[in-house]
Amino acid sequence: MNVKSRLATLHKKVDSALDRWLPSAGTKPKTLHSAMRYSVFAGGKRLRPAMCLAAAEACGGRLSAAMPSACAIECIHTYSLVHDDLPCMDDDDLRRGRPTTHKVFGEGVAVLTGDALLTMAFEILSRTEPTERYEVKDFLKELAISAGSLQLIGGQVADLEAENQKVTPSALEFIHLGKTAAMISLSLRLGAMSANARPADCRALAKFGTHLGLAFQIIDDILDIMQTSERLGKSAGKDVAAGKATYPAVFGLEKSRSEAVRYTKIALQALKPLGGKADFLRGIGDYLLEREF
Ligand code: IPE
Ligand code: IPE
Ligand code: MG
Ligand code: MG
Ligand code: MG
Repeated sequence: MNVKSRLATLHKKVDSALDRWLPSAGTKPKTLHSAMRYSVFAGGKRLRPAMCLAAAEACGGRLSAAMPSACAIECIHTYSLVHDDLPCMDDDDLRRGRPTTHKVFGEGVAVLTGDALLTMAFEILSRTEPTERYEVKDFLKELAISAGSLQLIGGQVADLEAENQKVTPSALEFIHLGKTAAMISLSLRLGAMSANARPADCRALAKFGTHLGLAFQIIDDILDIMQTSERLGKSAGKDVAAGKATYPAVFGLEKSRSEAVRYTKIALQALKPLGGKADFLRGIGDYLLEREF
């Protein structure tokens, strides 16, 4: 199976759905809607929506049924990046190969662009169809919890507070579980729910997502050190400069790499109950370990 070409196909489908659901750039206020589109269509990898769609497929569902979940998650993810890059947070100038949203539109509009994308995520997800096992409110609740103060935002706050501090491995894991693994695990769970998956399959996919999410952030931290800004499409070398609590800072590069491999193995084991239907997800797991950007 060619994982890259399947990911590229899903990327296109997600982009055309997002294009349908986001207000046009000419909609008033034009600055805001241009900034929303600028941020969303800047060239992200669309890994979370792809995993959402792949999870739906692995559970015997249709891509179209998982599309509101996939797009809602990408809106939240993009908003989290717009805010993450603000001068009061990671203070980054480059994102997805372009100047960051606040560099182009100013800080006020960047904050509000994030707010609008966060809110739009719930509007988009409210279009999901209920299944026999799951009501629309179940999807909305999952999204709210994963993007909320106990998970995504909690992790981002812990990340800020850990700057220039000595952190324990468990504090580091708390940061990564919140800021990154929560949304990746959510992507798989919502995809599964859109396919009316059995609770046991949802749990297996959630476990896959959590461990893959930890591996994903470790690789992100390694790439920040090893890769060029040009290849990453975001400024490299920022974590050391900002005194960020990262796996390489706490464990060194070699141990970080082996931890990413270990988490990926645990993730792949969690897919066992799904059998051959999860082969694409397995391919994504291997691919994420070898990614270069
Ligand atoms: C970046 O995520 C933020 C992290 C959680 C490390 P991605 O690497 O998936 O960013 P995009 O969506 O491709 O830009
Ligand atoms: C951010 O982690 C994760 C988010 C939830 C936005 P990073 O701060 O490491 O992400 P990058 O490196 O800026 O993409
Ligand atoms: Mg950050
Ligand atoms: Mg950052
Ligand atoms: Mg990073």
